[in-house]
Amino acid sequence: MDVKKVLCMVGGTSQTSYAANSTIPKKAILKIRPMLEEAVREIYRNLHPEKMAVADLGCSSGPNTLTVLSEVIKIISNQCQKAGQQPPEIQFFLNDLYNNDFNNIFQSLDQVGQSVGAEEGTISVPHFVAGLPGSFYGRLFPLQSVQFFHSSFSLMWISQVPKDIGDKKNGMPLNKGNIYIGKTSPTLVAKLYQEQFHRDFSQFLKLRCDELVPCGQMLLSFLGRNKNDILDGELSTIWGLVAESLDSMVLEGLVEEENLDTFNLPFYAPSAEEVDAIVNLQGLFDIIHFQTFESNMDPFNDLDGDVVLDNVQSGANCAKVLRSVLEPMIASHFGSAIVDDLFSRFATHAAKHLLKEKLKLPVLALSLKKKEYT
Ligand SMILES: C[S@@+](CC[C@H](N)C(=O)[O-])C[C@H]1O[C@@H](n2cnc3c(N)ncnc32)[C@H](O)[C@@H]1O
Repeated sequence: MDVKKVLCMVGGTSQTSYAANSTIPKKAILKIRPMLEEAVREIYRNLHPEKMAVADLGCSSGPNTLTVLSEVIKIISNQCQKAGQQPPEIQFFLNDLYNNDFNNIFQSLDQVGQSVGAEEGTISVPHFVAGLPGSFYGRLFPLQSVQFFHSSFSLMWISQVPKDIGDKKNGMPLNKGNIYIGKTSPTLVAKLYQEQFHRDFSQFLKLRCDELVPCGQMLLSFLGRNKNDILDGELSTIWGLVAESLDSMVLEGLVEEENLDTFNLPFYAPSAEEVDAIVNLQGLFDIIHFQTFESNMDPFNDLDGDVVLDNVQSGANCAKVLRSVLEPMIASHFGSAIVDDLFSRFATHAAKHLLKEKLKLPVLALSLKKKEYT
């Protein structure tokens, strides 16, 4: 699988689009707004830039990237208002992979002007927006040219499925029956995924450090793992339900077994300890804040604990979220004919699981500041 070509969320604004199903990251962005505020304020206070470059990495095609953009503008506007200073000009770069539906974001851009301009008494901040296609595992900007990087719900996507996952052991695919690390995966599979994430995340930090101005900052949030057991993480449960759904289609002859055997996700959900260790080992950034929290996979269930009032409806809600993320990858590997059936089976499997416990998405959020002498 060539991740750069295949990975994208469902574009447009239809019911199945990512734009219509991106409430979970939105809630996370609002939850960590104080981290955003502190980072942007500090950059402005310390660097006093006349021009500021801000990039959202993995912006996708939904409204969340515009929420980030307008929040940054509001923070700068308030700061300048209080200090009685001229606002800087801000250049926003919205980055994602090549197949992303950038046009969908561009078409909503006038709403940002309206929402920012709507607040009385705020200073207007000149801003310019550009789309930037490319992988954040490669260089995206000139050296020392960016003040602030933001990325939400993107860094758990790794640059490639670890190479040796496709190997066979005694004639059997190494990760038989799974599409990610699962309870029945050999520990080697977990190790290969873990090593790929470590390489990718280290590379990401190195590249962003090169591109940031001294004392520039980043706010990163992405899916992770709370459970200690790497074979039984929260995301392993969710991807396990997709694997079960695909497997049931193999049994009915609707999907070829070999197609399932060769499908593994370019994804890794790290623990907070792993992320902390990589950042510290690299020594390029200081961690200013590191927060972990859990979101429900059903965006309409805000009840605490494991309470699920209607497991069938909740299973369908989870399937909708998942489809908006996974459909292009599934269609590219298995063909688009299986998509409706697959996500309807997932909804059923999820509903059954929800009788035991909720499907949870652990989120890791960290703000990082480039060290002065790097
Ligand atoms: C779940 S969406 C998150 C979108 C948005 N940031 C939000 O919070 O709603 C993840 C996005 O990351 C993008 N992505 C994954 N790997 C990437 C890479 N290597 N370079 C750039 N974008 C990437 C995907 O294409 C996808 O649009």
